[in-house]
Amino acid sequence: MKIIPVRPLSASRPTAPLTGTIRVPGDKSISHRALMFGALAVGQTRITGLLEGEDVLRTAAAMRALGAEVERHDDVWLVSGRGIGGLVEPADVLDMGNSGTAARLLSGILASHPFFSVMTGDASLRRRPMRRVTDPLTACGARFSGREGGRLPLAIEGARDAMPLEYDVPVPSAQVKSAVLLCGLNAPGITVVTEREATRDHSENMLRHFGAEVSVEIQGTGRIISLRGQPHLRAANVVVPGDPSSAAFPIAAALMVPGSRIVIPGVGLNLLRTGLFTTLREMGAELRVENQRMEGGEPVGDIVAVYTELRGIDVPPERAPSMIDEYPVLAVLAARANGTTRMRGLKELRVKESDRLSATAAMLAANHVRVEVDGDDLIVHGTGGTPMGGGMVETHMDHRLAMSALVLGLGTELAVAVDDASFIDTSFPGFVELINTSIGNSGGDALRAA
Ligand code: S3P
Repeated sequence: MKIIPVRPLSASRPTAPLTGTIRVPGDKSISHRALMFGALAVGQTRITGLLEGEDVLRTAAAMRALGAEVERHDDVWLVSGRGIGGLVEPADVLDMGNSGTAARLLSGILASHPFFSVMTGDASLRRRPMRRVTDPLTACGARFSGREGGRLPLAIEGARDAMPLEYDVPVPSAQVKSAVLLCGLNAPGITVVTEREATRDHSENMLRHFGAEVSVEIQGTGRIISLRGQPHLRAANVVVPGDPSSAAFPIAAALMVPGSRIVIPGVGLNLLRTGLFTTLREMGAELRVENQRMEGGEPVGDIVAVYTELRGIDVPPERAPSMIDEYPVLAVLAARANGTTRMRGLKELRVKESDRLSATAAMLAANHVRVEVDGDDLIVHGTGGTPMGGGMVETHMDHRLAMSALVLGLGTELAVAVDDASFIDTSFPGFVELINTSIGNSGGDALRAA
């Protein structure tokens, strides 16, 4: 297992604003799927804009271990797939590192390939629930044995003749939905997945892009997705847009530092991902989209974010699936806003890379921001100015907590320290340098080794 050195960092108020163009890395969700679908297709898939973060590199390694050819040529990733049902038994344990998406989606693929495999992950991933995927995948014919609570490491015996499922996803989770669909790819007949609340639909979009027959029926706030099994997946070109969940951090940084104005080109604007942008506009943020276009089947645009004073608002629970990864950084902005922000219905935050509900509250409390957790709601009492800061934030192996805490420190009176920023590399390699560069020489290194 790779040993990652701990990287303590601190963030302090810069003397200059953030300006210029900031390029964010490729979308994490789309990058994982592009590698996986490429490995299941026949022919050579070409991926541009792939996120080269630790999480996605784990997926690339796993697909190689399962027999696909995965190579990088200059800026393009090439995947020569083996066709549905054509993956081979891996010779060793598949280590998915910190990535829940990699582990859950891969479980779906392995469930309908008739061989034995073992999957593990780092200490954070080994704590995360897997029953949400192994329960339906067992009904599909696969056998799993894991640790207490069904957690990783997990031994998997894939089904020889997988059954198509009709599955009602009990939690709003694109990972669970996708795992069932991926298993259904190698099952005869129609797999039907019902979700009561719509979650990100990159699997559905990309399956279609690779030639699968997928239909989607909208039902109230939810969707019924039907996939015809055993399609002939054809290799495709995939252009990965900038990750809106990564763009959230420089946007938030610009909204923390007076006078900032930044442009982030080529950000994915899938409506099931952009709840944060809606929320920030409701809080009064000046956030514009320019040059909106379609690229690789997903809407994309350039985001212009300009420093604005924010006001506290009530964020409704039904918005949670479209901004599930953005609550920690929203909470940071809420700390600076005028008035109280109540973020409702955040139960799923408890099972992310860390218990993000508690950890976000602890991050703010350590920096003298008044915060409460009320059931599944997070309530932040904004200071309407500059929060005190001065705290040390425990990041619990969670990249988004680390970036959120560093953004907080850009707008507090005293510097904010994080115990370990190394996990930022899972989703946003180069984050620290990018923020420092956008502040420019006159601003000094706002983010630096602690
Ligand atoms: C993801 C789905 C979400 C999200 C994660 C990526 C995906 O997880 O938090 O970062 O790519 O499908 P859940 O499905 O657990 O909500």
